Amino acid sequence: TLETTFYGHTYDNPFMNASGVHCMDVTELDELASSAAGSFVTKSATADGRKGNPEPRYVNLDLGSINSMGLPNLGLDYYLNYAILRQKSQPDAPFVMSVASYQGFDEYVDNMRQIQDSAYTGLVELNLSCPNVPGKPQMAYDFEDTKRLLTEIFKFYTKPFGVKLPPYFDMQHFDKIANVLNQFDLKFVNCINSIGNGLYIDETTDTVVIKPKGGFGGIGGEYVKPTALANVRALKQRLNPTIEVIGTGGILTGRDAYEHLLCGASMVQVGTQLQKEGVHVFERLTAELLAVLEEKGYQSIAEFKGKLGTL
Ligand code: DHB
Repeated sequence: TLETTFYGHTYDNPFMNASGVHCMDVTELDELASSAAGSFVTKSATADGRKGNPEPRYVNLDLGSINSMGLPNLGLDYYLNYAILRQKSQPDAPFVMSVASYQGFDEYVDNMRQIQDSAYTGLVELNLSCPNVPGKPQMAYDFEDTKRLLTEIFKFYTKPFGVKLPPYFDMQHFDKIANVLNQFDLKFVNCINSIGNGLYIDETTDTVVIKPKGGFGGIGGEYVKPTALANVRALKQRLNPTIEVIGTGGILTGRDAYEHLLCGASMVQVGTQLQKEGVHVFERLTAELLAVLEEKGYQSIAEFKGKLGTL
């Protein structure tokens, strides 16, 4: 069995979509909910709905993807209404609501206040790592501001939430972000968002492939797996044991998911490969992960979760 426990609930399997892929509206969200995925997350919501950046703004590449979507979404009210209705009709199938900000610090706080004041009591993923807000650095690359923001939110927020992080590339940065996060009663940390601001060049036209930001965009897919695994492992080793880790980045096969679980992930999210393959990817991934367990003689994920070997 692929059963896995995350924040007190047992899911059929650890697979979810990564926020941004196949989760914009009711149709897509309902498709995820009825897919083979164990759970799902909604598109990062901003206070007001947004059209996002001009197209082309997402392109699949041989080894992954590049995007600068610009936070297109239907607005916080839309996702909150959906979440409240679904929580009421399907109380035994928890999911995650992703919340971001386009304006910065104050909008993050206001968005969380709106959720606090609503009937939704489920998990929220606070996205501190959107790389496509022009003129703004990612919140989670500013350790002081991240601490200040979480301090402000915990003054009033009493429901369970976690944070989505960008990739870090320096051992000191792993120490610093973990030190900040360990000061709060976070339920989970999700590693990683895309590797920010890559540049892909088309070899026939000698041009960039996406229109926004002169072609710079977040990189996902096969390119990012080693960075994702390092971030899952490094954060799992540093965080309070009460903070679970969601592993995201470079999951194309059951083996890739297995590696995230070895690094200590409780759930695993699929972005680029879901975009490329559609929701049926979850049937393939669950079958492949089950085959890995069988081949290795494991009965359950709990037997190997976090037990990465070292030399
Ligand atoms: C967008 C991209 C992200 O990586 C993210 O975390 C949130 C939003 C976007 O461009 O829409």
